[in-house]
Amino acid sequence: MNRQQMIKKVESLSTLPTLPVVAMELNRMLQDVDTPIEQLVALLERDQSMVLKILRLVNSSFFGLKNRVTNLRHAVTLLGYTTLQNAVVTVSVIDALKLKKDIGQFDISTFWLHSIAVAVMGRHLATRTKLVPAEEAFTAGLLHDIGKVVLVNAFPDVFIRIIETKHAEQVTFYKTEQTLGSWPHTRIGSHLAKRWMLPDVLIETIRDHHQRTGSATDSPMADLIGVADCLVNIMEGNPGYRLEGGNLPPAIKDRMVVVLKDSASWFPAVKTEMVNAGNFLKQG
Ligand SMILES: [Fe+2]
Ligand SMILES: [Fe+2]
Repeated sequence: MNRQQMIKKVESLSTLPTLPVVAMELNRMLQDVDTPIEQLVALLERDQSMVLKILRLVNSSFFGLKNRVTNLRHAVTLLGYTTLQNAVVTVSVIDALKLKKDIGQFDISTFWLHSIAVAVMGRHLATRTKLVPAEEAFTAGLLHDIGKVVLVNAFPDVFIRIIETKHAEQVTFYKTEQTLGSWPHTRIGSHLAKRWMLPDVLIETIRDHHQRTGSATDSPMADLIGVADCLVNIMEGNPGYRLEGGNLPPAIKDRMVVVLKDSASWFPAVKTEMVNAGNFLKQG
């Protein structure tokens, strides 16, 4: 199946994962910066199960708050607009994609562990480099590969071919997608993110996280998550990933080099954070 056929099928797919109505409405509301916070709270309160999940999330090690937050209003005042949206997007996307079962060689829990690792790494790089807001980097990292979930569900045969070719040739997943001429997970994911009305920064990160060398992305978030993804892939022992000064995106290179040089001092703590965040997700 070639790229055009894949695009056609996804366009017509009624089985694309959906976000809860409340999350969609919230995303729509947040596109208007003047939406009063009261209105957001009122909207979220319509979905109590989401409120509970948000509170659980903001009280978890994901957010690292000092004091426990017990109600939504408090959470909103304490966390502010962007963090609230990140929290809602995080809980609803995890929910939307979690139910999808393993298919063949695709293990959904491995997928989420990878996503969490990139989220934690992204947040850390963001904090250290101050290139982008840290929590936004967390959400962007968590969502960067969502296209793979659609890919494996809608095109299991294509997915298996990619995995087999990737193993045989010892190259990256993305490189294999390009060689095979299939519609890449970056584009499938950004298509889904658009449908979900996620903020532009997330759409761009999902779309551009593999496009770091040569062509500039104009998105420091996509560049940063690209680096985080590369580091995590190296950590996981996946072939085809390299990170050298020479292939860092120019816009973030200087600050990133400083942080990466110092990685021996921060890596153990980041690894622990990854494990903690992974445990949170496992409790579902
Ligand atoms: Fe990716
Ligand atoms: Fe990735």
